Amino acid sequence: MDKFYTQAPKLNRERRFPQNMQAAHGLVLKAKNGEKGGARGNRYALPAFNVTNTQGIDAAFTAFETLGASGLLAFSNSALKHIGGGDPIFGLEIAADYIEKKAARSSVQVATHLDHGDYISEKGRKVVQGAVEMLTSVMADNSTDHAAKQSMPLKDNIGFTREVVNMAHPVGVSVEGELGVLAGEEDEDTKSEFSTYTDPEELATFLNETGVLMLAPTIGTMHGPNKGKPGQKVKLNISLAHELLKTANGIDDEIIFVAHGASTMYEEVRGYAVEQLEQLGIDATVQTWKNFVGTDWDQIQGLIEAGFCKINTDTENRQTYLAGLLGAVNENAAKIDIRWYEKQIWNTVTASYIQKLIMAGNYGVWHEPKIDVGKFVFDLHNV
Ligand code: 13P
Repeated sequence: MDKFYTQAPKLNRERRFPQNMQAAHGLVLKAKNGEKGGARGNRYALPAFNVTNTQGIDAAFTAFETLGASGLLAFSNSALKHIGGGDPIFGLEIAADYIEKKAARSSVQVATHLDHGDYISEKGRKVVQGAVEMLTSVMADNSTDHAAKQSMPLKDNIGFTREVVNMAHPVGVSVEGELGVLAGEEDEDTKSEFSTYTDPEELATFLNETGVLMLAPTIGTMHGPNKGKPGQKVKLNISLAHELLKTANGIDDEIIFVAHGASTMYEEVRGYAVEQLEQLGIDATVQTWKNFVGTDWDQIQGLIEAGFCKINTDTENRQTYLAGLLGAVNENAAKIDIRWYEKQIWNTVTASYIQKLIMAGNYGVWHEPKIDVGKFVFDLHNV
């Protein structure tokens, strides 16, 4: 393919964000290089936790600080609308202010990220522009035209993504692109009934032309709670992932891959939720819970080895939230105290964040963990 553009602007690494905040790329690059403290060890990953309220943010900070982990908090457009009372830009202002204040008191470094920013629609552009001003990282997801339910031509995906890089890199905000189409439903703004694998030949063109340092290739993961058939293991295309990594490293070994649809959906959460539903006599949804299928952790580990050091998890955190709520109602449905219910849910969500950070090897990065990670038991009956 012909070259469209001159050299893309490099990420400005001199930019200083508010205290204890960094561009996502810096934190994820440390993970790709296995850096913890001053030492180099095994590659690990940053789960990007999708958050929608202060409870989720607080739980994530507690988990990061318990483990000395690098933190990554992601906001979808619909989460921002929810926080901003319908206005995603106001949602950005509230979320960014809140996190800045929490980060200033934190013992770890965190990044904030716009998930699935769309630079195709007028409305989407405004949110991406706001995120470049207020967050430390943005996703420019221009690989799918969600309105027309089709993949975007490569040239257009490159063009839109490059516009975001031109705006974000000079001010130190890292950009994640997407190449290929991911199936599944995350929320109203991010759903697709079809999927395509990333084409290795297109990868080099995309990376060279856009200058992105983070990229979500599609290798078989899916958004949402039904990633495969119940009872069957989800299989990802790990060999394609390695082929893509080889190409990316040949261009710039600081390029990071991102796994969307990386929720594993814990058996512990499913079992606990089913138990609560049965005890509450809400049998109608038990089978739905039993049919949920996540991506097996050994598959995600295979991706981490192939340089997927940002692993997006949303669905499993929502499930944990709901399981915590069911457990609280089951324990005492007559307690007139919002704080008590919030605390119960907060405890379950914190435990699930800690579990995922340990699984991803993201601990002891900024300081020693405050718990013995080898002895952590993920059990919602005892949080
Ligand atoms: P899950 O639906 O597997 O949680 O993936 C979330 C995601 O990819 C957000 O971008």
